[in-house]
Amino acid sequence: MIDFYSEAQSLFPYTQAMRRDFHMHPELGHQEVRTAGIVARELQTLGLEVTTGVGKTGVVALIEGSKPGPTLLLRADMDALPILEQTGAEYASQTPGVMHACGHDAHTAILLTVAKILNSIRNELPGCVKLVFQPAEEGQGGAEGMLADGVLENPAVDVTLGLHVWNENPVGWLGLAPGPTMAGTEIFKVRVSGKGGHGAIPHLAVDPVLAGAQIVSALQSVVSRNISPLQSAVVSVTTFHGGEAFNVIPPFVELTGTIRSFDPQVRATVVHRFDEIVNGVAAGLGCQAEIEHIVMTPALVNDAQTAEIAQTVAMRVLPQSQISTSGPFTMGGEDFAYMMEKVPGLFMFVGSANPAKGLDYGHHHPKFDIDETSLPRAVALMAATALELLSR
Ligand code: NI
Repeated sequence: MIDFYSEAQSLFPYTQAMRRDFHMHPELGHQEVRTAGIVARELQTLGLEVTTGVGKTGVVALIEGSKPGPTLLLRADMDALPILEQTGAEYASQTPGVMHACGHDAHTAILLTVAKILNSIRNELPGCVKLVFQPAEEGQGGAEGMLADGVLENPAVDVTLGLHVWNENPVGWLGLAPGPTMAGTEIFKVRVSGKGGHGAIPHLAVDPVLAGAQIVSALQSVVSRNISPLQSAVVSVTTFHGGEAFNVIPPFVELTGTIRSFDPQVRATVVHRFDEIVNGVAAGLGCQAEIEHIVMTPALVNDAQTAEIAQTVAMRVLPQSQISTSGPFTMGGEDFAYMMEKVPGLFMFVGSANPAKGLDYGHHHPKFDIDETSLPRAVALMAATALELLSR
């Protein structure tokens, strides 16, 4: 049987070259034209049937095994962030203001390498591998676009698998947990309207600044007083805008922020109490509130059996691993959750930090960079888990 880790290590120069090329030429969501072109070219070189333009700039290819079996979807995201890179790396972004600061360059390179390995063993491969290179993960609806274009059909997908390089933990650490792993994320927008007036004559105005301030304070009671201490949620007010002049009470203020949770029940409670508090506090101070909730991603929930399979594979294939089997790992969100919501599967975390080399800045930081020795580990884990899932 193939030794996935030595295979991945022998392909490391390829993975690294691809990752560095993508890193030097980052593209924002739904603009991944160059990246998608390279992905399509590499897959065509393997002799695979490639479909481009799925969900605008996404790429899909199939590796058909020689035996009957299930269809496994493997997913990588391709987009970069609007950040000015400050790593000083020789392979730093050549596009000012755009940077692969989340590791999606690595994900794309990893999946291309996994495709090479699985394609080389297609004669012993049962079922079908659907390779999905997704655009626009960073809040622009990339996964939804691919779903709308039928990425789960033809052939119908039976199980889903994806991964994220993870700079919160060092190389060697693996997060392979069942259940809720990343948070459901959403944005709220609140407009509190009163009655503008002179700052020196407040009794003739209705002050929305005062109401807004009380709302920000009162919202902190939602998590601390309405949610069980054994469960998780976040309510963060992150912008507060109102007023133009020191002596004018403005007619309205606007607040925005984010709500995060893992459990649909918890989410429902948070949103219900949020609305009650905003409306109630505003009314109590003579103001009116308008509230808008915009859901970004559902919670990412791993299938327990798939997680268990990946744990067994990781122990067999990767030396010196510390496997964490209990999530969640972050209140951050991930739009792969939209695909996993339709077809259960697993989202794996692969430790990529190395503090000794200064490679431990967090995701979305302008100095974010990974230790590339994590790449062959991720490749081997994904390829070996894929084979295991198809063989069952
Ligand atoms: Ni990411």
